[in-house]
Amino acid sequence: MAFNPEQFTNIIDEAINSIVYPSTAPSLFEPVKYTLASGGKRLRPTLTLAVYEALSRRSPEEAVNQALAIELYHNFTLLHDDVMDRAELRRGRPTVHCKWNDNVAILSGDAMLTLASQYLCRNAGEHLAALSECFNRTAMEVYEGQQLDMEFERRDDVTVAEYMEMIRLKTSVLLAGACRLGAILAGASEEVCNAIADYGEALGLAFQLRDDWLDTFGDPAVFGKEIGGDIVNRKKTWLLITGLNEAPDQLPSIIAEDLEDDELISQVRHVYLLLHLDRRCNEIAEKYSAKAIECLSKIDMDVDARNFFQNLARQASSRTH
Ligand code: IPE
Ligand code: IPE
Ligand code: MG
Ligand code: MG
Ligand code: MG
Repeated sequence: MAFNPEQFTNIIDEAINSIVYPSTAPSLFEPVKYTLASGGKRLRPTLTLAVYEALSRRSPEEAVNQALAIELYHNFTLLHDDVMDRAELRRGRPTVHCKWNDNVAILSGDAMLTLASQYLCRNAGEHLAALSECFNRTAMEVYEGQQLDMEFERRDDVTVAEYMEMIRLKTSVLLAGACRLGAILAGASEEVCNAIADYGEALGLAFQLRDDWLDTFGDPAVFGKEIGGDIVNRKKTWLLITGLNEAPDQLPSIIAEDLEDDELISQVRHVYLLLHLDRRCNEIAEKYSAKAIECLSKIDMDVDARNFFQNLARQASSRTH
């Protein structure tokens, strides 16, 4: 069967539309439906389906439950992340905690996490134990990354190495996990599972570096999230860490001042541009895209599948949303 990337989005959307929600407290699921209907790139479930198809040469439909589990888990993290980051906009729409309130975002997020666990186990057959182990380890690492992300807001001595480990945990492990789930289902060897997870991890680093770039330099009309939130929250991104190191007479005092948000964002962005951090951040992201592509060389797959994964890696560091 020829590798056909067009079908992935349809498979995921159909699966989302066919979720059956418990009926006792319907308002618990309104924010879940709102979130899932707001789109998103569906990158993680696409990875699961694509890896399954590339490695098994069978229909990606067979991995739909685990792909849906990963997308539900991702959306759960977003509901809680938006509370933690006080973010007001996601996918061009008000975040759940703004449209409803924090309690709703917490509880509807919890419901999505449990839905994710349920779908992960569906039709898992002989792979159930391996899938659960991968999912649970990945989920715990995401929380570790999120914890570090929050702690770093209050520190001004975070190193680039600490930042890379933090984004590996909060973002990359989920992309790696999405790939590994597909590989486990396909019955791939340990070696191939590790190689495709390494691809996902490098892809994730490129993806989060670009996300941090977009948060400062993106086009608000396209990005779908507010611009400058990371600066306002003093998130220790590669941009801010490097800026603090290279402009020690300017940046520490700017972020210590009690400026209005718009003024703060504009002053910090000005320093970033003077230091060419916009270009340099993208170059590092591109390096991780290239690393992801390199990981593919250890895996036997047909040319269409290889092209698909290569393109995804390039998009991670050049995307606009
Ligand atoms: C947002 O992920 C969280 C990050 C890891 C930056 P995405 O950018 O994949 O979000 P959606 O699902 O496409 O909205
Ligand atoms: C993404 O971090 C990590 C998780 C959601 C787990 P961000 O806080 O940068 O994600 P966005 O920018 O809000 O999507
Ligand atoms: Mg956030
Ligand atoms: Mg966050
Ligand atoms: Mg972000």
